[in-house]
Amino acid sequence: MILKQISLRKKGTFDPNRTPAALPDRNLQLGVEWRLNIVGGMLLKGNMITNALVGEHSAFLTVFNQIERLLPRLSRLEEVKMLAELVEGSLLEHASKEESLASVALEHVPKDREVVASLHQDHHEIDHLLALIKSADGVATGRQFLKAALEASCKHFQWEEKLLFPLIEKTLKRGTASA
Ligand SMILES: [Fe+2]
Ligand SMILES: [Fe+2]
Repeated sequence: MILKQISLRKKGTFDPNRTPAALPDRNLQLGVEWRLNIVGGMLLKGNMITNALVGEHSAFLTVFNQIERLLPRLSRLEEVKMLAELVEGSLLEHASKEESLASVALEHVPKDREVVASLHQDHHEIDHLLALIKSADGVATGRQFLKAALEASCKHFQWEEKLLFPLIEKTLKRGTASA
């Protein structure tokens, strides 16, 4: 359905110059436009995007290893909080890209909605572990939460590379073939 809408748009049935009055719900129209652009781009770049995400995992793992080595030497909770902030900030954009990609690629496939839900759940759990560090009662607890967040992230990356990304690539490929 979405693919058909894209091809219709390419033939010029969508007029971006129509006034808001001609569009009953301009916000809805803009939302549809955004999604079509994303889907169109992803059909072409699905593999490139997942490859880039795998590359980001490698970079994260290198940093996580360094943090795990440093952790036992940290004696102040403030130091643990700073590292947690660094991890949180780095993961934020990465997770957002994954959620957009998974949502657009898989949300119209009912049997894959559980996978999208698992993605959100994992991200939420990692965020929660990192947030707990902000209210930790001491450096030892802070270190434990940060270690748990890093371990949960590593496990999550493996799940994405083994299950989520291949599923997204397969779905986008199937969508392109049936367009
Ligand atoms: Fe993720
Ligand atoms: Fe990821």
